Amino acid sequence: MIPLGSTRLLRRSVISLALAAACVPAAFAQAPIVIKFSHVVANDTPKGRAADFFAKRAAELTKGRVKVEVYPNSQLYKDKEEMEALQLGSVQMLAPSLSKFAPLGVKEFEAFDLPFIFDDYADLHAVTNGPVGQKLLKKLESRGITGLAYWDNGFKVMSANKPLRSVEDYKGLKMRIQSSKVLDAQMRAVGAMPQVLAFSETYQALQTGVVDGTENPPSNLYTQKMNEVQKHVSVTNHGYLGYAVVVNKKFWDGLPPDIRAALTKAMADSTKVANEVALKDNQDALAAVKATGKTTVHQPSIGERFLLKKAMIPVHKQMASRIGQETIDEIYKVTGFDPSKL
Ligand code: LMR
Repeated sequence: MIPLGSTRLLRRSVISLALAAACVPAAFAQAPIVIKFSHVVANDTPKGRAADFFAKRAAELTKGRVKVEVYPNSQLYKDKEEMEALQLGSVQMLAPSLSKFAPLGVKEFEAFDLPFIFDDYADLHAVTNGPVGQKLLKKLESRGITGLAYWDNGFKVMSANKPLRSVEDYKGLKMRIQSSKVLDAQMRAVGAMPQVLAFSETYQALQTGVVDGTENPPSNLYTQKMNEVQKHVSVTNHGYLGYAVVVNKKFWDGLPPDIRAALTKAMADSTKVANEVALKDNQDALAAVKATGKTTVHQPSIGERFLLKKAMIPVHKQMASRIGQETIDEIYKVTGFDPSKL
C-alpha cells in the first residue's frame, strides 16, 4: 500500500508532468522566426541605424514572433559573400548598396552610379518611389530575391593623400571602388585607376598604399576611420550611394501573411528613419572629419565642380548599352536631367 502522503506527491508529479508536456508544443509554436540581417557598415551610419530600428520595430509589431538579428560591419559576410549567403538562405535580409546588384546580372541598378545624375535627394526619391524604382526591384525576383525598400545614404566625397581639385589631380591615382562597371568608367574618365575592393578591406588598402584614394559618403568614410589614412577630402557630391533592402524570396513568401504584413509596416517605418537620419549623419561625419584637424576638407568651387562634371558626363553614353538606354531615359524624364545641357 502506498501511504497517503506519497499518493498526493505522486498525483502532484503526474499533474506537473502533464502540464509540462502540454507546454512543450506551445513553447515550440512560440519560438520566434529569426531573420539574420547582415550588413557591412558601422551601427552609427544611416544603414546601421535603420537596421537596428527595423529589428526593434519588427519585434514590437509582431509581438515578439519575429527576432531580427543584425550583424553589422561585415561580421558575418563581406560584400560578395553576403549576396551569395542571401541567395542560399544562410541569411534572410541584407541592404547592399545599389552598386552591388549588377554582378547578379541586374545591370540596370548601375544607373544609380552614373555621375551627376541626381542633383539631390528629391531627384533620387522621385526615381526610387516611382515606377522605375519598383521595376528594378521586381527584376531581382528571378534571382530569388525580393526587394522591400530603398534606403538612403548620401552623396559621395572623393579622398586621397593629395588635394583633389582639378581633373588632372586624379591622374594615375589608384582609387578603390565598389563592384560597378559605371564606377570603373567614372574613375577612368578622370584618368584614375579604379580597383574593386570589398568595403571591409578598404581602410587597410588605403593604410598600406594598395590604393591611393576612394569615394564614399562622409558617414562611411568617418565610421571606418578612412579619414585617418586620407589627408584630403573633396566634397564633390559627384554621385549617390544608397541601398536596396532585400530578403530571400522563398523565406519571405513562406511567412504567415500577418507576419509579412507586420514586417512590411516595420520596413516602411525603418525607411523613414533611414532617410531622415541620412543627411544629418553625413553632415555630422564631415564636420567630425574637419574637427580632427588632420584631414583637409576641400569644397570645390562651382568652376571646379563643373569641370569634373564635364569630364565624367560622357560615362552616361558609354554605359548606356550596359545599363539600358531605356532605364537611363526614364530616370532623365523623372529628374529633368539633360546631359546635353551642362
Ligand atoms: C561601399 O562598399 O563603399 C559601400 O557600399 C558600403 C555600404 O554598404 O555603404
